[in-house]
Amino acid sequence: MANITLRAAHPNDAPTIAAIYRAAVLEGTASFEIEPPDAAEMARRMAAIVDAGYPYLVAELAGAVTGYGYLNAYRPRPAYRWSVENSIYVANESQGHGIGRQVLQALIAKATTRGYRQMIAVIGDSANIASTRLHRACGFQFCGTVHAVGFKSGRWLDSVTMQRPLGDGDTSPPTQIAASLR
Ligand SMILES: CC(C)(COP(=O)(O)OP(=O)(O)OC[C@H]1O[C@@H](n2cnc3c(N)ncnc32)[C@H](O)[C@@H]1OP(=O)(O)O)[C@@H](O)C(=O)NCCC(=O)NCCS
Repeated sequence: MANITLRAAHPNDAPTIAAIYRAAVLEGTASFEIEPPDAAEMARRMAAIVDAGYPYLVAELAGAVTGYGYLNAYRPRPAYRWSVENSIYVANESQGHGIGRQVLQALIAKATTRGYRQMIAVIGDSANIASTRLHRACGFQFCGTVHAVGFKSGRWLDSVTMQRPLGDGDTSPPTQIAASLR
């Protein structure tokens, strides 16, 4: 496994994060976006996530950012507030070296500490074996597939949902998430 360092994302990382995401948007199916956002838009999105109190991490390999991951609200309505959705992207040339796993494990640990009870992965397309295996390896279970809800690069895409309980899961009521810990 590569010698990876994880740290909180900084606004200065936005251009590198935008470049990693750009390749995923243009060449992959994980994102249902068609036009890649530029670095300024990526910086705005990062700030919104961090300002809402969710973790946003980057993975560095030999001092260079090669992957990133963050949590966000699964859905905005208040009864969903104990559930988070994760997103992880690793640069094409750095995939398969354990970076995605380390980022996901760190996000799971942070979400558990903060008192969230479920983590949800919404995976772009059934053929995204790397993502489904990564999530299964980190304790996620398959929930279901919404078939052919996206159309990109000339073909219909499925949306696969996987889920992992955190902490007590659904075996006890939630406890308040301290604002300082979110
Ligand atoms: C999915 C993704 C984040 C995985 O990151 P990664 O750093 O390449 O994955 P890792 O090297 O940490 O692998 C962890 C586990 O995932 C699975 N996995 C990763 N890549 C795989 C591949 N190409 N084929 C099959 N399984 C794969 C394996 O179970 C692996 O564990 P193992 O090496 O012990 O077998 C990365 O491929 C990626 O960025 N893909 C494009 C964007 C994307 O799909 N993001 C997920 C959005 S939900």
